[in-house]
Amino acid sequence: MKHNLRVNSALMLKTLSMTVLILLCLVVARPGSQTARAAATGESLFNANCVVCHKAGGNIINPKKPVIGSTMLASKKTFKSYLLKPSGAMQPCPKIANEDADLAALYDYCKSLK
Ligand code: HEC
Repeated sequence: MKHNLRVNSALMLKTLSMTVLILLCLVVARPGSQTARAAATGESLFNANCVVCHKAGGNIINPKKPVIGSTMLASKKTFKSYLLKPSGAMQPCPKIANEDADLAALYDYCKSLK
């Protein structure tokens, strides 16, 4: 009887650790965790990088130069050049400008602002 109990608890421990392992694998392999980078939307990029100065598509530093209606949105190419070499108090944003998927998403979002 005593012997049996010991075997049983050893077996239980084994089962338990296997369960923990499987759960860990499930957590690590969650599909969402891998697509997070690709899922950056124009809106999330804008909110993370631009909205502090361009609240609601305006411009809190130089109100004469809002994002909405800007000639810098004439084409994606113009937009990219501007992000690489902006004017005035705006800082360059090469991380987005040089990542075409992000650039396109942010460009579309800026164009959609009204
Ligand atoms: C630190 C504040 C700040 C941040 C952050 C910022 N901007 Fe600007 N932005 C400015 C300022 C100031 C100007 C006006 C520059 C000037 O006076 O010539 C400007 C101008 C612009 C213009 C051109 C307006 C025009 O017609 O001349 C666009 C387009 C623009 N920003 C887009 C963005 C985008 C997109 C982001 C995010 C990637 C961003 N900005 C982040 C401050 C900022």
